[in-house]
Amino acid sequence: MLRTASYYLSAATLAVSLAGGANAQSWSDQPVNPDKVDVDVAVAYEEGGRYYNEDDIPTYNVADDGTVDWLTFSGFRRYHAECHVCHGPDGEGSTYAPKIKNSAVHMDYYAFYDVVVNGRENGNSVMPHFGDNPNVMCYLDDIYVYLKARGMEAVPRGRPGKKEAKSEMIQEAEDACMG
Ligand code: HEC
Repeated sequence: MLRTASYYLSAATLAVSLAGGANAQSWSDQPVNPDKVDVDVAVAYEEGGRYYNEDDIPTYNVADDGTVDWLTFSGFRRYHAECHVCHGPDGEGSTYAPKIKNSAVHMDYYAFYDVVVNGRENGNSVMPHFGDNPNVMCYLDDIYVYLKARGMEAVPRGRPGKKEAKSEMIQEAEDACMG
């Protein structure tokens, strides 16, 4: 976990050099009470190892024994490769960037996508755009469901222990996306 340690360090450095950059965030500041929050995370159907709610929005699936769906596991890894440096470990936020595990619960799926694709600027507080970065775009559903699972406290902090196998359909989509 040396790599993780270096991320912590760089996040700390960023926080120091850009102190004061964290402005009040509409969504990430809203606490989440998983028992009360009015978001539909229930699995309505599964397709090739991906899970969706009734409105065809990607969602997570956590079995009774803690086994997570592939996307949630993959999202954990992708999040910590691309977003962690600013948004902190496990989506918990930092002094510099918002607690996006909450944002993933409160924000509309398409609004979440929009911010990541196009970025957002609020004075000194800058969210980069990732629309041209396949390492993010090919895995954005993964990152989204992982953060949503974190926000809803469906998965604990840290690396998920047990995971479903990666389906052929997910592998094919990944190959096509990464080119
Ligand atoms: C260089 C630092 C940085 C990186 C890397 C970064 N972000 Fe951000 N992000 C920010 C900042 C700062 C904001 C707040 C922008 C503002 O004030 O409007 C933000 C805002 C957001 C928001 C909006 C949150 C809300 O509650 O409105 C989402 C969603 C988001 N980021 C997702 C991501 C994802 C997903 C990744 C990884 C693919 C990522 N970010 C990587 C700095 C970063």
